[in-house]
Amino acid sequence: MKRIVVTGGLGFIGSHTVVELQNEGFEVVVIDDLSNSSIEVLEGIALITGITPFFENIDLKDQNAIKSFFKKYTNIAGIIHFAASKAVGESVDKPLKYYHNNISSLIYLLEEMAVNGVENFIFSSSCTVYGQADMMPITESAPFKTAESPYGNTKQMGESIIKDTANASNLNAVSLRYFNPIGAHESAKIGELPVGVPQNLIPYVMQTAIGLREQLSVYGGDYPTFDGTAIRDYIHVVDLAKAHIVAMCRLLNEKNKTSFEVFNIGTGKGSSVLEVIQAFEEVSNQKVNYKIVDRRAGDIVEAYADTSSANNDLGWYPELTLKDGLASAWKWQQSLV
Ligand code: WQD
Repeated sequence: MKRIVVTGGLGFIGSHTVVELQNEGFEVVVIDDLSNSSIEVLEGIALITGITPFFENIDLKDQNAIKSFFKKYTNIAGIIHFAASKAVGESVDKPLKYYHNNISSLIYLLEEMAVNGVENFIFSSSCTVYGQADMMPITESAPFKTAESPYGNTKQMGESIIKDTANASNLNAVSLRYFNPIGAHESAKIGELPVGVPQNLIPYVMQTAIGLREQLSVYGGDYPTFDGTAIRDYIHVVDLAKAHIVAMCRLLNEKNKTSFEVFNIGTGKGSSVLEVIQAFEEVSNQKVNYKIVDRRAGDIVEAYADTSSANNDLGWYPELTLKDGLASAWKWQQSLV
């Protein structure tokens, strides 16, 4: 049984990826510092798959802890690296926290991987690296725009660090650029657990619909889009998780063409904020109380993926729709009360 390490494996995308890795027959070791997740997620994973992953509570800024980890866990076939701070707004207020947590830890991890001969690496990146791309749909060759936030900059820098390291060593890496992950596992045993007031649209819609929030603010009704609200590519988190399995198998079977590959992971379809609200109301039969207010600083107008590279090279295709994502997110939200 091949051993895969998942950093940030108790987080939203990480936990769904752990489930799919176990479904695929991998042995999974989760590293998580529990700074933005809870240990109960381990139980949720086990309820779905019947297997409790190995778990190590490690802060990846602690280089000695990483060294000890690699002494304890040998024969690692690959690492999927989710662990990072990811709140765009917070990163503007606390840039050093983001550069330290997202970049120092990446460097320490890559260094110890090299020392221990671990060569397969998947990086959790984001469409945020593109900023407001000039053309839709966005291809992987779209240029990096100046990052809108320190968070976005850490994703751009992270990819450069990994690419340079792969070019200079035996590292084989894939960077997956997520568009907007939404939804939850159909079992409602795991899902998104935003801390405090949700920054992202879908959790805020869910908390408004269930009565935890008074009203959803729609940030901007005057964008140059068909209905004036901003457009994003909302990808079901289970489809996103499965993309990691496909990418890891590509590395393990040495089917990667170069030592550093990048893939956009989205549905290829854009949806406006108002379309999301309408789709949710249709699947849940629940009205959402919302008000259109001023634009949110730093937001882009439109982003949706050209997924042909992931389709053609990875052989990965999304199977679930926006409504599947919204229905599963709603089932998860209802399970939380
Ligand atoms: C989506 C749309 C908002 C909240 C960010 C990061 C990205 C990734 C996903 C980490 C936008 C609008 C939102 C609300 C709203 N994060 N909105 N009312 O900003 O596209 O992407 O989160 O990996 O890297 O950049 O996602 O869900 O915050 O916003 O109207 O209460 O919903 O303006 O148009 P975003 P989002």
